[in-house]
Amino acid sequence: MTATESELQGGFDQTLAHNDRIEPRDWMPEGYRKTLVRQIAQHAHSEIIGMQPEGGWITRAPSLRRKAILLAKVQDEAGHGLYLYSACETLGVSRAELTEMLLSGRQKYSSIFNYPTLSYADVGTIGWLVDGAAICNQVPLCRTSFGPYGRAMIRICKEESFHQRQGFELLMTMMRGTDAQRAMVQESVDRFWWPALMMFGPPDDESPNTAQSMAWGIKRNTNDELRQRFVDMSVPQAEALGVTFPDPELRWNDERGAHDFGTPDWDEFMQVVKGDGPCNRQRIAHRRRAHEDGAWVREAATAFAARSTTEVGA
Ligand code: 3HC
Repeated sequence: MTATESELQGGFDQTLAHNDRIEPRDWMPEGYRKTLVRQIAQHAHSEIIGMQPEGGWITRAPSLRRKAILLAKVQDEAGHGLYLYSACETLGVSRAELTEMLLSGRQKYSSIFNYPTLSYADVGTIGWLVDGAAICNQVPLCRTSFGPYGRAMIRICKEESFHQRQGFELLMTMMRGTDAQRAMVQESVDRFWWPALMMFGPPDDESPNTAQSMAWGIKRNTNDELRQRFVDMSVPQAEALGVTFPDPELRWNDERGAHDFGTPDWDEFMQVVKGDGPCNRQRIAHRRRAHEDGAWVREAATAFAARSTTEVGA
């Protein structure tokens, strides 16, 4: 390592030690940059793919109010993807490359979006549990060491809070409805609880990235810490709703000051992450079709930008 590089490494380490931000123009170890591209890209892909499960319910929302709320939420997810792709592009990778890596399976998106939305209650459960889990995972990321990523998180977390509240309010409305509506909510919660716990990633002792990501200040908490925080946050909310979680081991542990809970099915998780979940193929086919259908817009925008540049230069 040349003296200059060790000085650069020293400066990088000092910035992290002071909890300051690493900005795109700063020197950074190649491994740090690669980890950021991987995590931010997958986060962005998750936002864009995450539009699909609820998108299918926009035309079937039971009222204009519910349709307007759901439209706003799905539109927010597109914006979250935009902020995150933009943050990723500051690391020298283009959106076209990232899209190609998503469509070819070389980059992932969150496992949770490979589960189907079988009833309207799922719209509420996704808002309450999936966006609730996302909040648990994303609030610490507001303090991530890479500047553009942390700044993107601030607005995303504010909008996620709206997503979670609207989902909880939708479910509360259904729980005050008929027996059939209450049963629909409980059935939905039963289907989404364990996949929501899997969103936080594998157990810490099976996470190949957590230790280094924590050392670099990319992650501020481990997978298990955030999963525990989500369980402890969700139990009182479920009680307020009047629903239960499908986990016979779920109980308060006074000694730990936290809830004990069962073990997610990590074999199922690995199957879904590897591409064999209930909706993986459908989600990627839909994303590929949308990308292909949008080719003319990209070509027109590129042609317009080129003409404008020529005119300005003339
Ligand atoms: N789905 C798919 N893949 C997952 C996963 C999940 N839920 N959890 C972990 N993985 C993958 C990791 O990507 C990694 O594979 P890779 O090395 O090939 O990328 C492997 O499993 C091992 O996991 P690690 O815990 O070692 O990986 P990370 O340190 O990257 O931790 C993470 C995983 C906690 C998801 C972390 O990447 C993270 O915090 N990402 C940012 C938040 C995010 O992406 N959230 C996704 C949901 S966004 C959302 O919900 C939108 C909302 O609007 C609804």
